[in-house]
Amino acid sequence: MFYETQKNNHGLPHNPFKSLIIPRPIGWITTQDDAGNVNLAPYSYFNALCDNPPMIMFSTTNSRSKGVVKDTLHNAETQGEFVVNMATFELREAVNLSSAPLPKDESEVAFAKLETLPSSLVKPPRIKSSPIHLECKYYRSLQLPSNNGDTNRVVFGTVIGVHIDDVLIVNGKIDVTRIKPIARLGYMDYAVVDNIFSMQRPL
Ligand SMILES: Cc1cc2nc3c(=O)[nH]c(=O)nc-3n(C[C@H](O)[C@H](O)[C@H](O)COP(=O)(O)O)c2cc1C
Repeated sequence: MFYETQKNNHGLPHNPFKSLIIPRPIGWITTQDDAGNVNLAPYSYFNALCDNPPMIMFSTTNSRSKGVVKDTLHNAETQGEFVVNMATFELREAVNLSSAPLPKDESEVAFAKLETLPSSLVKPPRIKSSPIHLECKYYRSLQLPSNNGDTNRVVFGTVIGVHIDDVLIVNGKIDVTRIKPIARLGYMDYAVVDNIFSMQRPL
Protein backbone atom coordinates (compact mmCIF):
# COMPACT_ATOMS: atom_id res chain seq x y z
CA MET A 1 0.00 0.00 0.00
CA PHE A 2 0.95 3.65 -0.32
CA TYR A 3 -0.63 6.68 1.25
CA GLU A 4 0.04 10.40 1.26
CA THR A 5 0.31 11.84 4.75
CA GLN A 6 -1.39 15.10 3.75
CA LYS A 7 -4.40 13.12 2.46
CA ASN A 8 -4.21 10.49 5.25
CA ASN A 9 -5.67 8.06 2.69
CA HIS A 10 -4.36 4.86 4.27
CA GLY A 11 -7.86 3.43 4.60
CA LEU A 12 -7.01 1.86 7.96
CA PRO A 13 -9.07 2.36 11.14
CA HIS A 14 -6.06 4.04 12.85
CA ASN A 15 -3.27 6.21 11.51
CA PRO A 16 -0.35 3.76 11.17
CA PHE A 17 2.46 6.37 11.46
CA LYS A 18 3.47 5.59 15.04
CA SER A 19 3.68 1.88 14.15
CA LEU A 20 6.22 2.58 11.45
CA ILE A 21 9.04 4.06 13.53
CA ILE A 22 9.50 1.41 16.17
CA PRO A 23 10.54 0.61 18.79
CA ARG A 24 10.85 4.11 20.25
CA PRO A 25 12.78 4.45 23.53
CA ILE A 26 10.87 6.13 26.33
CA GLY A 27 12.31 9.17 28.06
CA TRP A 28 10.66 9.17 31.48
CA ILE A 29 11.18 12.78 32.40
CA THR A 30 11.20 14.56 35.75
CA THR A 31 11.03 18.34 35.84
CA GLN A 32 10.25 20.96 38.46
CA ASP A 33 8.28 24.19 38.16
CA ASP A 34 9.24 27.52 39.74
CA ALA A 35 7.26 26.61 42.88
CA GLY A 36 9.19 23.34 43.25
CA ASN A 37 6.33 21.05 42.13
CA VAL A 38 7.83 17.86 40.70
CA ASN A 39 6.42 16.62 37.41
CA LEU A 40 6.91 13.20 35.79
CA ALA A 41 5.81 12.05 32.32
CA PRO A 42 6.86 9.58 29.61
CA TYR A 43 7.90 10.78 26.15
CA SER A 44 8.53 8.31 23.32
CA TYR A 45 9.41 10.96 20.79
CA PHE A 46 12.76 10.71 22.50
CA ASN A 47 16.29 9.76 21.53
CA ALA A 48 20.05 10.33 21.86
CA LEU A 49 21.54 12.68 19.29
CA CYS A 50 25.30 12.76 19.78
CA ASP A 51 27.80 11.73 22.44
CA ASN A 52 30.44 14.46 22.80
CA PRO A 53 28.83 16.24 24.47
CA PRO A 54 26.06 13.71 25.07
CA MET A 55 22.81 15.29 23.89
CA ILE A 56 19.24 14.06 23.78
CA MET A 57 15.87 15.26 22.50
CA PHE A 58 12.23 14.81 23.30
CA SER A 59 9.23 16.19 21.48
CA THR A 60 5.82 17.22 22.76
CA THR A 61 2.62 17.09 20.78
CA ASN A 62 -1.16 16.81 21.35
CA SER A 63 -1.56 19.68 23.79
CA ARG A 64 -4.33 18.99 26.27
CA SER A 65 -6.03 22.24 25.49
CA LYS A 66 -4.90 24.32 22.57
CA GLY A 67 -2.39 26.95 23.52
CA VAL A 68 -1.42 25.29 26.83
CA VAL A 69 1.86 23.44 26.57
CA LYS A 70 2.59 20.25 28.49
CA ASP A 71 4.14 20.63 31.93
CA THR A 72 7.39 18.88 30.97
CA LEU A 73 7.92 21.30 28.11
CA HIS A 74 7.00 24.35 30.21
CA ASN A 75 9.24 23.31 33.10
CA ALA A 76 12.23 22.37 30.92
CA GLU A 77 12.01 25.67 29.04
CA THR A 78 11.45 27.91 32.06
CA GLN A 79 13.68 26.15 34.62
CA GLY A 80 16.37 24.93 32.22
CA GLU A 81 16.80 21.46 33.70
CA PHE A 82 15.31 17.97 33.53
CA VAL A 83 16.13 14.36 34.35
CA VAL A 84 15.56 11.36 32.08
CA ASN A 85 14.80 8.19 34.05
CA MET A 86 15.05 4.74 32.45
CA ALA A 87 11.62 3.17 31.82
CA THR A 88 11.87 -0.54 32.63
CA PHE A 89 9.51 -3.50 32.33
CA GLU A 90 9.31 -3.68 36.13
CA LEU A 91 8.16 -0.04 36.23
CA ARG A 92 5.79 -0.29 33.26
CA GLU A 93 2.59 0.37 35.25
CA ALA A 94 4.12 3.42 36.92
CA VAL A 95 5.36 4.70 33.56
CA ASN A 96 1.85 4.45 32.18
CA LEU A 97 0.24 6.00 35.29
CA SER A 98 2.62 8.95 35.09
CA SER A 99 1.16 9.91 31.71
CA ALA A 100 -2.07 10.97 33.46
CA PRO A 101 -2.88 14.61 32.72
CA LEU A 102 -2.85 15.80 36.34
CA PRO A 103 -3.15 19.47 37.32
CA LYS A 104 0.17 21.35 37.46
CA ASP A 105 0.44 21.26 41.26
CA GLU A 106 -0.39 17.52 41.56
CA SER A 107 2.60 15.23 41.18
CA GLU A 108 2.56 12.14 39.01
CA VAL A 109 5.30 10.80 41.31
CA ALA A 110 2.84 10.35 44.19
CA PHE A 111 0.04 9.31 41.81
CA ALA A 112 2.23 6.44 40.50
CA LYS A 113 3.33 5.60 44.08
CA LEU A 114 6.98 6.35 43.35
CA GLU A 115 9.77 7.84 45.44
CA THR A 116 12.46 10.28 44.40
CA LEU A 117 16.15 10.80 45.12
CA PRO A 118 17.92 14.14 44.88
CA SER A 119 19.95 14.72 41.72
CA SER A 120 23.64 15.69 41.88
CA LEU A 121 23.80 18.62 39.45
CA VAL A 122 20.21 19.69 38.71
CA LYS A 123 17.14 20.55 40.79
CA PRO A 124 14.58 18.04 39.42
CA PRO A 125 14.86 14.77 41.38
CA ARG A 126 15.41 11.24 40.08
CA ILE A 127 12.97 8.32 40.30
CA LYS A 128 14.42 6.04 42.97
CA SER A 129 13.29 2.71 41.48
CA SER A 130 14.63 3.52 38.01
CA PRO A 131 18.16 2.13 37.51
CA ILE A 132 19.54 4.85 35.19
CA HIS A 133 19.20 8.64 35.38
CA LEU A 134 20.45 11.27 32.97
CA GLU A 135 20.72 14.73 34.51
CA CYS A 136 20.17 17.25 31.72
CA LYS A 137 20.56 20.96 31.06
CA TYR A 138 18.08 22.47 28.61
CA TYR A 139 19.84 23.51 25.39
CA ARG A 140 17.10 24.90 23.15
CA SER A 141 13.71 24.16 21.61
CA LEU A 142 12.59 23.91 18.03
CA GLN A 143 8.99 24.65 17.09
CA LEU A 144 7.74 22.23 14.42
CA PRO A 145 4.83 22.83 12.03
CA SER A 146 1.36 21.83 13.16
CA ASN A 147 -1.64 20.90 11.02
CA ASN A 148 -4.16 20.97 13.87
CA GLY A 149 -3.11 23.57 16.42
CA ASP A 150 -1.12 21.15 18.58
CA THR A 151 2.13 22.43 20.03
CA ASN A 152 4.70 20.25 18.29
CA ARG A 153 7.98 21.26 19.88
CA VAL A 154 11.33 19.50 20.21
CA VAL A 155 13.47 20.10 23.28
CA PHE A 156 17.21 19.49 23.05
CA GLY A 157 19.20 18.89 26.20
CA THR A 158 22.79 18.22 27.20
CA VAL A 159 23.40 15.31 29.57
CA ILE A 160 25.68 16.61 32.31
CA GLY A 161 25.47 13.79 34.87
CA VAL A 162 24.74 10.06 34.65
CA HIS A 163 23.72 7.64 37.41
CA ILE A 164 23.92 3.89 36.72
CA ASP A 165 22.88 1.24 39.22
CA ASP A 166 26.07 -0.80 39.79
CA VAL A 167 24.21 -4.11 39.44
CA LEU A 168 23.77 -3.35 35.74
CA ILE A 169 27.52 -3.34 35.11
CA VAL A 170 28.85 -6.79 34.19
CA ASN A 171 32.46 -7.18 33.02
CA GLY A 172 32.67 -3.44 32.48
CA LYS A 173 29.61 -3.26 30.22
CA ILE A 174 25.96 -2.37 30.75
CA ASP A 175 23.95 -5.60 30.79
CA VAL A 176 20.76 -4.62 28.98
CA THR A 177 19.03 -7.84 30.03
CA ARG A 178 19.25 -6.65 33.64
CA ILE A 179 17.53 -3.37 32.71
CA LYS A 180 14.74 -4.77 30.54
CA PRO A 181 13.95 -1.35 29.03
CA ILE A 182 10.51 -0.87 27.53
CA ALA A 183 9.88 0.88 24.25
CA ARG A 184 6.83 2.27 22.55
CA LEU A 185 5.24 0.74 19.48
CA GLY A 186 2.05 1.94 17.77
CA TYR A 187 -1.46 1.83 19.23
CA MET A 188 -1.35 0.78 22.93
CA ASP A 189 1.55 -1.61 22.32
CA TYR A 190 4.99 -1.77 23.90
CA ALA A 191 8.11 -3.89 23.46
CA VAL A 192 10.61 -5.04 26.07
CA VAL A 193 14.30 -5.59 25.35
CA ASP A 194 15.22 -8.85 27.06
CA ASN A 195 17.63 -10.40 24.61
CA ILE A 196 20.27 -8.96 22.30
CA PHE A 197 22.61 -9.98 19.49
CA SER A 198 25.96 -8.52 18.41
CA MET A 199 27.60 -7.92 15.04
CA GLN A 200 31.06 -6.60 14.20
CA ARG A 201 31.14 -3.66 11.80
CA PRO A 202 32.80 -4.19 8.41
CA LEU A 203 36.37 -2.78 8.16
C1 LIG B 1 4.65 5.57 26.82
C2 LIG B 1 4.15 6.96 26.52
C3 LIG B 1 4.86 7.77 25.65
C4 LIG B 1 4.43 9.07 25.39
N1 LIG B 1 5.14 9.85 24.53
C5 LIG B 1 4.76 11.13 24.31
C6 LIG B 1 5.53 11.97 23.44
O1 LIG B 1 6.56 11.57 22.88
N2 LIG B 1 5.13 13.25 23.27
C7 LIG B 1 4.02 13.74 23.90
O2 LIG B 1 3.72 14.91 23.73
N3 LIG B 1 3.27 12.97 24.72
C8 LIG B 1 3.63 11.68 24.94
N4 LIG B 1 2.89 10.90 25.79
C9 LIG B 1 1.76 11.50 26.51
C10 LIG B 1 2.28 12.30 27.71
O3 LIG B 1 3.00 11.46 28.62
C11 LIG B 1 1.06 12.91 28.45
O4 LIG B 1 0.47 13.87 27.61
C12 LIG B 1 1.40 13.52 29.79
O5 LIG B 1 0.20 13.90 30.45
C13 LIG B 1 2.27 14.76 29.64
O6 LIG B 1 2.55 15.18 30.94
P1 LIG B 1 3.11 16.58 31.33
O7 LIG B 1 2.09 17.62 30.95
O8 LIG B 1 3.27 16.43 32.80
O9 LIG B 1 4.42 16.77 30.61
C14 LIG B 1 3.26 9.57 26.03
C15 LIG B 1 2.52 8.74 26.90
C16 LIG B 1 2.95 7.44 27.12
C17 LIG B 1 2.17 6.55 28.05
